[in-house]
Amino acid sequence: MHSNGLPSARIIGLGTALPARIMTNKDFEQIIDTTDEWIVQRTGMKVRHYVRSDEGIAEIAVEAGKKAMAAAGVEPEEIELVVLATATPEQPIPATAAIIQPALGVSNAVCFDIAGACSGFIYALQVVRQFIATGEVKTAMIIGAEALSKYSDFTDRSTCILFGDGAGAAVLRACEPGDGVLSCAWHTDGHYSDIIQMPGGGSKYPPHVKEHIEARLPFIKMRGNEVFKLAVRAFLEVCQEALGKAGVTTDEIRWFVPHQANLRIISAVGDRLGIPVERIYVNLEKVGNTSSASIPLAMGEVIDSGDLKRGDLVLMAAFGGGLTWAASVVRW
Ligand code: UT7
Repeated sequence: MHSNGLPSARIIGLGTALPARIMTNKDFEQIIDTTDEWIVQRTGMKVRHYVRSDEGIAEIAVEAGKKAMAAAGVEPEEIELVVLATATPEQPIPATAAIIQPALGVSNAVCFDIAGACSGFIYALQVVRQFIATGEVKTAMIIGAEALSKYSDFTDRSTCILFGDGAGAAVLRACEPGDGVLSCAWHTDGHYSDIIQMPGGGSKYPPHVKEHIEARLPFIKMRGNEVFKLAVRAFLEVCQEALGKAGVTTDEIRWFVPHQANLRIISAVGDRLGIPVERIYVNLEKVGNTSSASIPLAMGEVIDSGDLKRGDLVLMAAFGGGLTWAASVVRW
């Protein structure tokens, strides 16, 4: 394993939050031309959670963050850095991480957001890990939080069925080299920036212009089939890269926790990596695709299952808009 003698970063606590309102495949049958059968066969999804109409991501991000600090046994004042990954911030200005700082009580932390779409949680992990390695911070928090339902186009049956809302947070602390996060691999290819996108809502097509809304610009758009093919290859390559950097093989991985975009993608990648289904964690049937919250939500379930011991190896991997793709091997 590559060890440069610098401090590593260990996840010492994780917390999650799902909004109460649920949206089932049957509910979609009432509003678009689809069936429960099609959605289950093509995606594996059954239920998603949606925030209330007067709610953004702040509430669930705070709930997840507080749970993560409680699980870590860390006081809010000990957190020196909060990096929040989201594609659906509470509002454009200021950063959601700043908005939630008082509610989290992390008064000593520098707080900012990053946009890595579905790879956001691993991007945040990689960012925080660098600050820990240099000794700049010892204790930090990463959060992945999304309210994708607010930007789902309920006139587009190929995308609206996919997305759900939720949040997950992890507290990281400096640890000995060779423990905690063993590797991160991360990539971007902006040549494909238009295959998963929300063209409106930013500075080019601001959301308050009537024509932009009429042209349905502030909604998520995806060329699903093209994304699917790219995703399988990118997932595979980035997992192999992260495993190689950590110097471990798939046989040593206790849990493969992939971004929950599509069961067929997860199965294809698991097959090619040679990881048996019993060691692949899937929860997309309960939450849908929650972008940057996807991996921590799944990790929360793995922890709750009691089937993760100190020292176990976890492989996390994600793929999404940007295009972005990333993977990390973590010693629990
Ligand atoms: O998180 C970021 C990364 N995202 C992903 O990795 C998502 C990757 N892509 C996918 O998961 C899949 O491409 C989808 C689930 C989005 C779509 O599945 P697909 O098997 O690629 O379907 P398709 O787009 O090729 O469409 C097949 C057919 C089309 O009908 P025709 O043209 O063959 O008559 C669609 O109109 O399925 C139709 N269709 C639907 N039918 C019933 C599309 N959406 C629906 C629907 N219900 N909800």
